Amino acid sequence: MIICPSILTADFCRLGETLDEAVAAGIEWIHLDVMDGNWVVNKTITFGPAVVRSIRDRLGDDVFIDCHLMVTNAEDNWDQYVAAGVDLVIPHIEAVADFPALIKKLHGADCQAGLVFNPATSIDDVLPLLPDLDLVLVMSVVPGKGGQSFMPEVEAKVRALRAAIDDQISAGGRPCKLMIDGGIKSHNIALVRDWGIEVSVVGSGLINDKGTIAENLAEFDVALSE
Ligand code: DX5
Ligand code: ZN
Repeated sequence: MIICPSILTADFCRLGETLDEAVAAGIEWIHLDVMDGNWVVNKTITFGPAVVRSIRDRLGDDVFIDCHLMVTNAEDNWDQYVAAGVDLVIPHIEAVADFPALIKKLHGADCQAGLVFNPATSIDDVLPLLPDLDLVLVMSVVPGKGGQSFMPEVEAKVRALRAAIDDQISAGGRPCKLMIDGGIKSHNIALVRDWGIEVSVVGSGLINDKGTIAENLAEFDVALSE
Protein backbone atom coordinates (compact mmCIF):
# COMPACT_ATOMS: atom_id res chain seq x y z
CA MET A 1 0.00 0.00 0.00
CA ILE A 2 1.34 3.40 -0.97
CA ILE A 3 0.20 6.23 1.33
CA CYS A 4 0.10 9.51 -0.45
CA PRO A 5 -0.53 12.80 1.38
CA SER A 6 -3.00 15.40 0.18
CA ILE A 7 -1.82 18.83 1.30
CA LEU A 8 -5.31 20.40 1.60
CA THR A 9 -5.16 20.58 5.40
CA ALA A 10 -1.62 22.03 5.43
CA ASP A 11 -0.79 25.57 6.56
CA PHE A 12 -0.02 27.02 3.11
CA CYS A 13 2.41 29.54 4.63
CA ARG A 14 4.48 26.59 5.82
CA LEU A 15 3.94 24.34 2.82
CA GLY A 16 7.65 23.91 2.03
CA GLU A 17 8.41 22.71 5.56
CA THR A 18 5.41 20.36 5.47
CA LEU A 19 6.62 18.84 2.18
CA ASP A 20 10.12 18.41 3.65
CA GLU A 21 8.58 16.76 6.70
CA ALA A 22 6.63 14.35 4.48
CA VAL A 23 9.74 13.38 2.52
CA ALA A 24 11.75 12.92 5.74
CA ALA A 25 8.95 10.60 6.97
CA GLY A 26 9.47 8.43 3.87
CA ILE A 27 6.69 9.70 1.60
CA GLU A 28 7.40 9.04 -2.09
CA TRP A 29 4.15 10.27 -3.70
CA ILE A 30 2.25 13.55 -3.15
CA HIS A 31 -1.38 14.18 -4.21
CA LEU A 32 -2.31 17.71 -5.31
CA ASP A 33 -5.99 18.70 -5.20
CA VAL A 34 -6.69 21.43 -7.76
CA MET A 35 -10.14 23.09 -7.45
CA ASP A 36 -11.12 26.01 -9.65
CA GLY A 37 -13.86 27.71 -7.65
CA ASN A 38 -16.50 26.26 -9.95
CA TRP A 39 -16.48 22.50 -10.40
CA VAL A 40 -16.80 21.13 -6.85
CA VAL A 41 -20.20 21.56 -5.20
CA ASN A 42 -18.90 23.95 -2.52
CA LYS A 43 -17.11 26.11 -5.16
CA THR A 44 -13.74 25.95 -3.37
CA ILE A 45 -10.54 27.35 -4.88
CA THR A 46 -7.30 25.65 -3.86
CA PHE A 47 -4.23 26.37 -6.00
CA GLY A 48 -3.08 26.27 -9.61
CA PRO A 49 -0.06 25.59 -11.82
CA ALA A 50 2.27 28.20 -10.23
CA VAL A 51 1.97 26.55 -6.81
CA VAL A 52 2.32 23.10 -8.40
CA ARG A 53 5.58 24.26 -10.03
CA SER A 54 6.91 25.51 -6.68
CA ILE A 55 6.02 22.16 -5.09
CA ARG A 56 7.85 20.25 -7.84
CA ASP A 57 10.90 22.48 -7.43
CA ARG A 58 10.87 21.98 -3.66
CA LEU A 59 10.50 18.19 -3.90
CA GLY A 60 12.96 17.58 -6.73
CA ASP A 61 12.53 14.69 -9.14
CA ASP A 62 12.51 11.77 -6.72
CA VAL A 63 8.96 12.29 -5.44
CA PHE A 64 6.06 11.20 -7.67
CA ILE A 65 3.38 13.91 -7.99
CA ASP A 66 -0.19 13.40 -9.12
CA CYS A 67 -2.65 16.18 -9.82
CA HIS A 68 -6.36 15.57 -9.07
CA LEU A 69 -8.10 18.04 -11.36
CA MET A 70 -11.45 19.16 -9.94
CA VAL A 71 -11.96 21.79 -12.62
CA THR A 72 -14.56 22.56 -15.26
CA ASN A 73 -12.15 22.80 -18.19
CA ALA A 74 -9.57 20.03 -17.72
CA GLU A 75 -9.52 19.52 -21.50
CA ASP A 76 -8.30 23.10 -21.94
CA ASN A 77 -5.74 23.34 -19.11
CA TRP A 78 -4.33 19.86 -18.41
CA ASP A 79 -1.12 20.90 -20.19
CA GLN A 80 -0.41 23.63 -17.62
CA TYR A 81 -0.10 20.96 -14.92
CA VAL A 82 2.13 18.79 -17.11
CA ALA A 83 4.31 21.85 -17.73
CA ALA A 84 4.38 22.46 -13.96
CA GLY A 85 6.05 19.07 -13.54
CA VAL A 86 3.44 16.53 -12.43
CA ASP A 87 3.94 12.84 -13.30
CA LEU A 88 0.26 11.89 -13.46
CA VAL A 89 -2.84 13.96 -14.24
CA ILE A 90 -6.18 12.67 -12.87
CA PRO A 91 -9.19 14.45 -14.43
CA HIS A 92 -12.81 13.77 -13.40
CA ILE A 93 -14.75 11.70 -15.93
CA GLU A 94 -17.86 13.80 -15.12
CA ALA A 95 -16.09 16.97 -16.29
CA VAL A 96 -14.58 15.76 -19.56
CA ALA A 97 -16.50 15.41 -22.83
CA ASP A 98 -13.97 13.24 -24.74
CA PHE A 99 -11.96 11.24 -22.21
CA PRO A 100 -10.19 8.95 -24.74
CA ALA A 101 -8.86 12.04 -26.54
CA LEU A 102 -7.57 13.50 -23.27
CA ILE A 103 -5.78 10.24 -22.41
CA LYS A 104 -4.06 10.34 -25.83
CA LYS A 105 -2.99 13.94 -25.29
CA LEU A 106 -1.54 13.18 -21.85
CA HIS A 107 0.38 10.18 -23.15
CA GLY A 108 1.56 12.27 -26.11
CA ALA A 109 2.95 14.78 -23.60
CA ASP A 110 4.81 11.97 -21.81
CA CYS A 111 2.54 12.17 -18.78
CA GLN A 112 0.66 9.34 -17.09
CA ALA A 113 -3.12 9.43 -17.53
CA GLY A 114 -5.52 8.80 -14.66
CA LEU A 115 -9.29 8.98 -14.26
CA VAL A 116 -11.30 9.82 -11.15
CA PHE A 117 -15.03 9.42 -10.59
CA ASN A 118 -17.49 10.62 -7.98
CA PRO A 119 -19.36 8.34 -5.55
CA ALA A 120 -22.55 8.79 -7.63
CA THR A 121 -20.96 7.80 -10.95
CA SER A 122 -21.36 4.30 -12.37
CA ILE A 123 -18.24 2.28 -13.19
CA ASP A 124 -19.93 1.29 -16.46
CA ASP A 125 -18.60 4.62 -17.75
CA VAL A 126 -15.09 3.84 -16.45
CA LEU A 127 -14.55 0.20 -17.45
CA PRO A 128 -14.26 0.75 -21.24
CA LEU A 129 -11.39 3.22 -20.62
CA LEU A 130 -9.30 0.90 -18.40
CA PRO A 131 -7.01 -0.45 -21.16
CA ASP A 132 -5.46 2.99 -21.69
CA LEU A 133 -5.37 4.27 -18.10
CA ASP A 134 -2.36 4.32 -15.78
CA LEU A 135 -4.55 4.81 -12.69
CA VAL A 136 -8.19 4.86 -11.61
CA LEU A 137 -9.09 6.92 -8.54
CA VAL A 138 -12.27 6.06 -6.63
CA MET A 139 -13.69 9.00 -4.63
CA SER A 140 -14.88 7.83 -1.21
CA VAL A 141 -16.25 11.31 -0.38
CA VAL A 142 -17.98 13.93 -2.52
CA PRO A 143 -14.97 16.03 -3.59
CA GLY A 144 -14.60 19.55 -2.27
CA LYS A 145 -12.73 19.51 1.01
CA GLY A 146 -10.58 17.46 3.38
CA GLY A 147 -11.78 15.93 6.63
CA GLN A 148 -15.05 14.36 5.39
CA SER A 149 -16.40 10.92 6.41
CA PHE A 150 -15.48 7.84 4.39
CA MET A 151 -18.34 6.35 2.31
CA PRO A 152 -18.12 2.54 2.73
CA GLU A 153 -20.70 2.02 -0.02
CA VAL A 154 -17.94 2.38 -2.65
CA GLU A 155 -16.79 -1.16 -1.78
CA ALA A 156 -18.62 -2.88 -4.65
CA LYS A 157 -17.11 -0.48 -7.21
CA VAL A 158 -13.61 -0.93 -5.82
CA ARG A 159 -13.90 -4.71 -5.90
CA ALA A 160 -15.31 -4.71 -9.45
CA LEU A 161 -12.49 -2.45 -10.65
CA ARG A 162 -9.91 -4.64 -8.87
CA ALA A 163 -11.23 -7.70 -10.71
CA ALA A 164 -11.30 -5.93 -14.09
CA ILE A 165 -7.75 -4.58 -13.63
CA ASP A 166 -6.47 -8.00 -12.54
CA ASP A 167 -8.01 -9.54 -15.67
CA GLN A 168 -6.41 -6.83 -17.82
CA ILE A 169 -2.99 -7.39 -16.26
CA SER A 170 -3.16 -11.19 -16.58
CA ALA A 171 -4.01 -10.73 -20.26
CA GLY A 172 -0.81 -8.69 -20.70
CA GLY A 173 -2.56 -5.30 -20.64
CA ARG A 174 -1.58 -2.03 -19.01
CA PRO A 175 -0.85 -2.28 -15.24
CA CYS A 176 -3.43 0.30 -14.20
CA LYS A 177 -3.19 1.23 -10.50
CA LEU A 178 -6.20 1.52 -8.19
CA MET A 179 -6.33 4.47 -5.78
CA ILE A 180 -8.86 5.78 -3.24
CA ASP A 181 -9.38 9.32 -1.93
CA GLY A 182 -11.47 10.65 0.91
CA GLY A 183 -11.84 9.85 4.60
CA ILE A 184 -8.97 7.36 4.75
CA LYS A 185 -7.60 6.99 8.28
CA SER A 186 -5.60 4.36 10.17
CA HIS A 187 -8.87 2.64 11.19
CA ASN A 188 -9.96 1.90 7.59
CA ILE A 189 -6.67 1.63 5.66
CA ALA A 190 -6.51 -2.17 6.08
CA LEU A 191 -10.12 -2.44 4.92
CA VAL A 192 -9.48 -0.67 1.61
CA ARG A 193 -6.26 -2.64 1.12
CA ASP A 194 -8.32 -5.82 1.47
CA TRP A 195 -10.72 -4.52 -1.20
CA GLY A 196 -7.75 -4.25 -3.57
CA ILE A 197 -6.63 -0.62 -3.27
CA GLU A 198 -2.90 -0.06 -3.91
CA VAL A 199 -2.60 3.68 -3.33
CA SER A 200 -4.47 5.66 -0.65
CA VAL A 201 -4.70 9.44 -0.52
CA VAL A 202 -4.62 10.64 3.08
CA GLY A 203 -5.18 14.29 3.93
CA SER A 204 -6.42 15.11 7.44
CA GLY A 205 -5.21 11.72 8.72
CA LEU A 206 -1.59 12.71 8.07
CA ILE A 207 -1.46 16.51 8.21
CA ASN A 208 -3.23 17.48 11.44
CA ASP A 209 -2.73 18.93 14.92
CA LYS A 210 -2.58 15.50 16.56
CA GLY A 211 0.94 14.55 15.57
CA THR A 212 3.77 14.93 13.10
CA ILE A 213 3.48 13.31 9.68
CA ALA A 214 5.95 10.63 10.82
CA GLU A 215 3.91 9.89 13.97
CA ASN A 216 0.64 9.74 12.02
CA LEU A 217 2.20 7.58 9.32
CA ALA A 218 3.44 5.15 11.99
CA GLU A 219 -0.21 4.55 12.98
CA PHE A 220 -1.01 3.60 9.39
CA ASP A 221 1.98 1.23 9.34
CA VAL A 222 0.76 -0.44 12.53
CA ALA A 223 -2.77 -0.81 11.11
CA LEU A 224 -1.39 -2.35 7.91
CA SER A 225 0.83 -4.80 9.76
CA GLU A 226 -1.91 -6.20 12.02
C1 DX5 B 1 -11.32 15.92 -1.53
C2 DX5 B 1 -9.89 15.73 -1.98
C3 DX5 B 1 -9.11 14.80 -1.11
C4 DX5 B 1 -9.01 15.24 0.32
C5 DX5 B 1 -8.57 14.10 1.18
O1 DX5 B 1 -11.98 16.73 -2.43
O2 DX5 B 1 -9.86 15.18 -3.28
O3 DX5 B 1 -7.85 14.52 -1.67
O4 DX5 B 1 -8.15 16.32 0.50
O5 DX5 B 1 -8.62 14.53 2.50
P1 DX5 B 1 -9.09 13.59 3.70
O6 DX5 B 1 -8.11 12.45 3.75
O7 DX5 B 1 -9.02 14.49 4.87
O8 DX5 B 1 -10.48 13.11 3.38
ZN1 ZN C 1 -7.94 14.37 -4.08
